[in-house]
Amino acid sequence: MTKLIYNAKIYTPQDEGEPRRGAAASELMVLDPGAMLIHDGVVVALGSDPDALAAERGAGGGAESETPIVTKIDMKIDMKIDMKGRCVIPGFVDPHTHLCFAATRENEFRMRLGGADYMEIHRAGGGIMSSVRSLRETALEPLLARTLAGLERSLSFGVTTVEVKTGYGLETAAELRQLEAIRLAAEQVPQDVVPTFLGAHSIPVEYRERREEFVQLVIEEMLPAAAETGVPRYCDIFTEESVFTVAESERILTRAREFGMELKAHVDEIVNLGGAEMAARLGCVSAEHLIASDDDGLAAMAEAGTIAVVLPGTSFSLKKPYARAPRMIELGVPVALATDCNPGSCYTESMPFIVTLAVMQAGLSIEQALTAVTLNAAHAIGVAERAGSLEPGKYADFVVLEGESPAVIPYHLAVNPVREVYKRGELVHRA
Ligand code: NIG
Ligand code: FE
Repeated sequence: MTKLIYNAKIYTPQDEGEPRRGAAASELMVLDPGAMLIHDGVVVALGSDPDALAAERGAGGGAESETPIVTKIDMKIDMKIDMKGRCVIPGFVDPHTHLCFAATRENEFRMRLGGADYMEIHRAGGGIMSSVRSLRETALEPLLARTLAGLERSLSFGVTTVEVKTGYGLETAAELRQLEAIRLAAEQVPQDVVPTFLGAHSIPVEYRERREEFVQLVIEEMLPAAAETGVPRYCDIFTEESVFTVAESERILTRAREFGMELKAHVDEIVNLGGAEMAARLGCVSAEHLIASDDDGLAAMAEAGTIAVVLPGTSFSLKKPYARAPRMIELGVPVALATDCNPGSCYTESMPFIVTLAVMQAGLSIEQALTAVTLNAAHAIGVAERAGSLEPGKYADFVVLEGESPAVIPYHLAVNPVREVYKRGELVHRA
C-alpha cells in the first residue's frame, strides 16, 4: 500500500544517529507545503512537490537510493490524502510512564492540596505503597483493562510509542503480573510499547527495617525472574532520600546490566544525592526528573551522553520547581520530555500538555520541546532507528494537528490539538 500525503506543513527534527543537543536541539526541518510518500507503513520520501514525489515514487536519487527501503517502489499510489494545510509532526514518543496501575489516588491528591507533602505521604506508607497495595490485590485482567484504557488515552494525545514501567508490585509475583499486563497490552494497541522493569521503585513497608534484604531480593530473585520473561528492555530505579541510596542503586543497576537490560534512573527529584553523576558513571541511557541536579551532575551527563528525561507535569502536579532544561541544553545534555503518567505525582497521558508546560514554564522553545517529545524521546527508549522523526526508512508515525504549526500546542490552551494519529501509515485515531 502506497500513500501520499500532501498539502501539509511538515515539522520534524532530523536524526543524525544520536539525540540532538545544544544548538541542534532547536533545528527542525520545515516543509511548507509538505508532502510525504509512504509505502507499507514506512516513509519513503519527503518534499514540497507532491507530483515530483509521486513521479519519483520514492526512487529518491543520489545518496538516498543507497538506502534499501528507498530504492524501488513498483507500485502506484493507492491513496492521496489532502492535509488541507494542517501541521504534521512525528508521533509523540512518551519515554517515561507508570501507566500500568490498579487504582487512582484521588484521596492523596486532596491531601496534597491540603498541604501534605508527597514524600511525607510516601514515608507514612502511602504514595507508591498505596499503588503497591492495590496492584497486589488486582488480578491480571482488570490490570490489563486499566492499562489499555491509559494507552488509549495516550494515543488520543498523539503518542505512537510509549515506555511503560513496572514498580507497583515490589514482590516477584506481582512485578511479573505487571510485566505480563504490559506485554499483553502491547499486543493489543497500535502503539509500540517499550517495557521497563522498576522492581526497585520503593522499599516496601514490610522491608523498611531490613532494607538490605529487599535489595537482595531484587538482585537475587526479582531481576532474574524479570529477565527470564524476556519482556523488559530497561531497568529503572528510584534513587532518592527515603528510597534507594546511590550505593544501593549502583548495585541493582549493575546487576540488571548483567541480565542484558539497559539502564535508567529516577534521580535528583527532591534531593540531590548525586544521582545525575551516578547515571552518567553507570552509562545509563537516561536519567529522569533532575529537578535538584547541579551543574556538575549535568556536565557529567553531557560528557557521558546520558539523556535527561524532564518531567514538567510532575513539577506542576507536585508544585515543585521545574528541572533546568534550558541549562541542560546549554551544557550539551540531550533533553527529552515525558508525561511520567502515574497515579501519584503526575496523572496525565497528555504529551501536548507536557509540551505546553515545557514551553510556558520550563523555558524551552517550541522547537526544543518538539525535538524533546519526538526524536530525543525516541533515543531515550532505544527506538530512534524507526521512530521519532519523519525521514526515509522510519515508520510513518505521525500526528495531524488542528493548527498550522507546532505552536498551536501551547497556544490553544488546554485543548487537545491532535486531530488524527497515524501509526505505520495507518489512521489509528481521529478526534
Ligand atoms: O516518577 N518518583 C518516583 N516514581 C514516580 C511516582 C510514582 C507514584 O507516586 O506512584 C515518579 O514521579
Ligand atoms: Fe517516574
